Formats: sequence, structure tokens, C-alpha cells
Amino acid sequence: MSDVVNDTKIPNNVDLSSDKKLQRALEAWQPNFINWWLEMGPEGFQQDQVWLRTAISVDSDGWAHFDYVKMPDYRWGIFLADKVPDRKIHFGDNIGQPVWNEVPGEHRNTLRRLIVTQGDTEPASVEQQRLLGQTCPSLYDLRNLFQVNVEEGRHLWAMVYLLHSYFGRDGREEAEALLQRRSGDPDKPRILGAFNAPCENWLSFFMFTYFTDRDGKYQLLALAESGFDPLSRTTRFMLTEEAHHMFVGESGVQRIIERTAQLMKQAGMSEDVRKLGGIDLPTIQKYLNLWYTLSLDLFGGEVSSNAASFFAAGLKGRAFEEKNYTEHTALNQSYTLDKYEAGKLSREEIALRNAMNEVLRDNYVEDSQRGLDKWNRVLEKEGIDFRFKLPSRRFHRHIGMWADVPVTPAGEIISREEFEKRKSEWLPTAEDEAYVKSLMTTPVYEKGKMANWIAPPARGIKGQPVDYEYVRHNV
Ligand SMILES: [Fe+2]
Ligand SMILES: [Fe+2]
Repeated sequence: MSDVVNDTKIPNNVDLSSDKKLQRALEAWQPNFINWWLEMGPEGFQQDQVWLRTAISVDSDGWAHFDYVKMPDYRWGIFLADKVPDRKIHFGDNIGQPVWNEVPGEHRNTLRRLIVTQGDTEPASVEQQRLLGQTCPSLYDLRNLFQVNVEEGRHLWAMVYLLHSYFGRDGREEAEALLQRRSGDPDKPRILGAFNAPCENWLSFFMFTYFTDRDGKYQLLALAESGFDPLSRTTRFMLTEEAHHMFVGESGVQRIIERTAQLMKQAGMSEDVRKLGGIDLPTIQKYLNLWYTLSLDLFGGEVSSNAASFFAAGLKGRAFEEKNYTEHTALNQSYTLDKYEAGKLSREEIALRNAMNEVLRDNYVEDSQRGLDKWNRVLEKEGIDFRFKLPSRRFHRHIGMWADVPVTPAGEIISREEFEKRKSEWLPTAEDEAYVKSLMTTPVYEKGKMANWIAPPARGIKGQPVDYEYVRHNV
């Protein structure tokens, strides 16, 4: 177990004090990060005591230390998973060679781009979620929101550590730029589409943490395989935190569905629960369609020579490359996919390496389905015959060969005109958004109380009761 140093400005297990130059550079970045946090982090709660989990080391009891803390005082630290002795590159063209502990010159730009792209999503999501505290359904949910936010802040630290340590001046410039871009700002947007989309109500927040954080999980799994060992070690530890974000999403959506089912019964099994202040199932399906498809785009184009070269070089592997695959060069193998070109649909066989985005997207789609199965079991138990469905991966895409092709959620190609006419059945309308927001105008800050549109969680956090004072909020 690597030693953890907690008494310095920056908690870390990377022996930061032995590299004075790096330490100074990160200590100079730290106040800029705090300024960014105060400006773009959760608005209206910076002075509150929040019952948060802080990572103080990477071992099983150290990474989840719970206590009250004011968010600006959160100890954002640098934690890498322990080194695996004699680790070798285990996929692509360099199989069997020792992993890199320094950035290989020929892959410098590519690696920097991969790290910056991952790093950019972390502060972006904090920005997207910064006003949600003001409409929270309970103190329990408020605390979970802030837990996700501070950990995304820590993930930014994780990527900035790599930029500062291994990329010299360019890295320091990129680290600054990560604090300059702003989600949704047309002049200086975040890099990826879904991270510029507004996330302004709690149904969106739960769908975001279920679907968009799950993209994060798969990107991190692919980077955890990397032959650039510091990237692998950083992302391996980030994955432990990511699991909680997806739990927040999955259980949040489930609690909305539970409450909707109760209200449907009250309404005599009518689907129209809006008159009782609930969120009707078709509206939940529309938000699911929106965030799932925005997240599908994050995997990139179906056919990608970049993805092939990341794999060839050993920079980015497949999820669970070692565990799930027996052959690791991915050479002389093919992948068959639908091809849509000039209005014609066909099947095409492409080289497997060129299909790496699609391979990762396959894993993601399969994993996404599991939450829906759970949500549908709630409906089944309640005797409701509605079922949630993942839309076709052709639907509502902005990246890849299906970008802007008019397709139904069932995957059927239709005319642009019909798509425009029926869009309001499939994606949230301005009216849906206004309705969902109207439910959340009054935040719930009373211990143990829940907003009307969501059921309480089955249990509290880390053995605490549901009515625990998770956030000491002074109204
Ligand atoms: Fe993250
Ligand atoms: Fe996350």
C-alpha cells in the first residue's frame, strides 16, 4: 500500500513532496480550482455542513471516510491505485512490452488529448448541476448531489495531476483551460455534446447520473487498460467513486417510478398522474430517451481510425480487456454493423480495430439495460403494464452515421416531416420540461421529508437513517 500524505495542502499517495517543482505547480493551480468551484460549483450551499465521503487513501476502509464538511473545504486529493508489479502492455501492437511510466514521445499528443477530453467532462457536469440544490426533493438527495459534485471535482484533480506531471508546459496550459471552458457557453463550450446540454431538473439529473456517468464508467474502464501506467492507475481508482454516481441515478429514477405507481393507483390506475403532482411514465420514458441518446454519442463514430490507433498503440483498450477477451491484438478480425449511407441501409463488415467505439458502445448498451429491467420489475409488481425501453441506437443521434437521420425510437427510418411531427411523443417538449420544473419549485430542506413526486429511499447512507440531517442548511 502506498503511503498517504494528508497533512499537506494536497492530500496524495504519489509522494508529491519529493517533486518540489510539480508540487509548486499543483499548489499554484489549487486556488484557481477553488475559485472555479466557488463560481461554478453548487450555488447557495457553499457554507453548509454536508455529510460527505472523502477519499483519504485507496485501501478498502480509507477511501470512504464520512464526516460533515463545508464543500470548499473538501480535501480534493490525488490518489492512484497501487502499482501492479511488472505490469506489461497487454493489447495492441506492443503486447508484452513493459508499461510506460513516462509518456512515449510518439503518443504524447494523443495521450494528452485523451486525458483532456476525459478531464473536461468532470467540471462540466458540476457546472450542469450547479443550480439543482435549490430545487432538491430531500436532504438525502441534496447530499447525494453534492457527493457526486465533489467527486467530479476530484476526478478533475486526477486528470490535472497527469497533465502537470507528464506534459510539461502544454499540460499546465491544458489544466488552466479546463477551468476556463464553461458548459453550454457558445463561446467556450465544453468539449463533448452531452456535457453542454442543460440539466435543470432532478429527473434529468437522475437520468444523467444513470446514463451519462455510465459512459464515464466505460471510458474509464477502457483507459484503465492503458499501457500508460499512471493513466491506468488513476482511472482504476476513479471507477470506485463512479459506482456511487450511477447508484444515485438508478435509485433516483426507481424512486420516481415507485411514487408514480402509487399515484396511478390513487388515480384509479389512470396514467394521468399530473393532476396528482406526479411524473407520468411516458414523460419519464422521454427523458430516458434524451439522456441515453446524448450519452450514446459520447462513444464517437461507429467506424473510427482514431479508435483503431489508440488500440494499436496500447493507449486505450476494451473494457475488461484481460478478463473478457482471449485474443488481444484484434487483428484479422471483423465486426459487422449496419451502414447507412446516401439513404441506403446495408450490412457492412469492418476491421475490428476500426470498430472499437462500437464495441465499447455494445458493452454500454447492455449495461444500461439492467437498470430498466429493475425499473420494469417495479411496474410489474404494481400490476402496471407500461414497460420502459431503450430506444434504438440510431435514434436522436448527433455523432456518427446516424447523425441527424430521422429515425423512430424503434429504429425505423422515416421522413424528416414525420419525425418533426412525432418528435414530441419521443423527446421532452418545452411543456414537459416546464411541468417537471413546476413540481420542483419549492425545495425540501426538512429532515426526512420527501417531495411529492418521489418515494423515499429504502435506506439512508452508510448506516444512517433516511431522516438524518445529511446537509445542515441554513435557510
Ligand atoms: Fe467523473
Ligand atoms: Fe461521475
